[in-house]
Amino acid sequence: MKNIILIGFMGVGKGSVAREVTKHSKYIAIDTDDIIESMTNKKIKEIFSDEGESHFRKLEKDISFWLENSVKSTLISTGGGFYKVENLKEIGIVVLLDSPFEAIIKRIKEHPNAERKLKKRPLLQDLKKAKELYEQRRPEYLKLADIVIDVTNKSAKDCSKELLKKVKKHA
Ligand code: S3P
Repeated sequence: MKNIILIGFMGVGKGSVAREVTKHSKYIAIDTDDIIESMTNKKIKEIFSDEGESHFRKLEKDISFWLENSVKSTLISTGGGFYKVENLKEIGIVVLLDSPFEAIIKRIKEHPNAERKLKKRPLLQDLKKAKELYEQRRPEYLKLADIVIDVTNKSAKDCSKELLKKVKKHA
């Protein structure tokens, strides 16, 4: 089983889809932001404010080499900017969760923990800037993806089923 590496914009539902995939397959899920938080014993937000974004990107890069060399048969969900690591395609099958910016923001705002979800993401504090980031990243996400899943108005369960079907076909 090759690794599956989930990419996509902040709030698109990478974590929720990953949790569903583990329910319907043998994959175990890990998350690059969780690894960084446990490595540093800090929240992502604190890393951004104490050491700056560039330090966070360096941590993502370190993890990318560890993932490539040491992690097998795993579903890896990533932070929205992780896709920039140079060895992304070496880590596993790249699956993009795709949705329009407005639908992503609506999804976050409708979540019962909306406030916490927005607060913990430094790059979502200014929605105008976040939209620009989305516009800049989306073509890059599409270029890297082996598989694209449009998650708009779909449940995590349905997305996970579609993902597993497409991964099976791809392998
Ligand atoms: C980031 C996305 C976040 C987190 C950090 C930076 C980004 O993860 O890694 O705040 O650059 O898009 P999520 O995609 O899980 O929100």
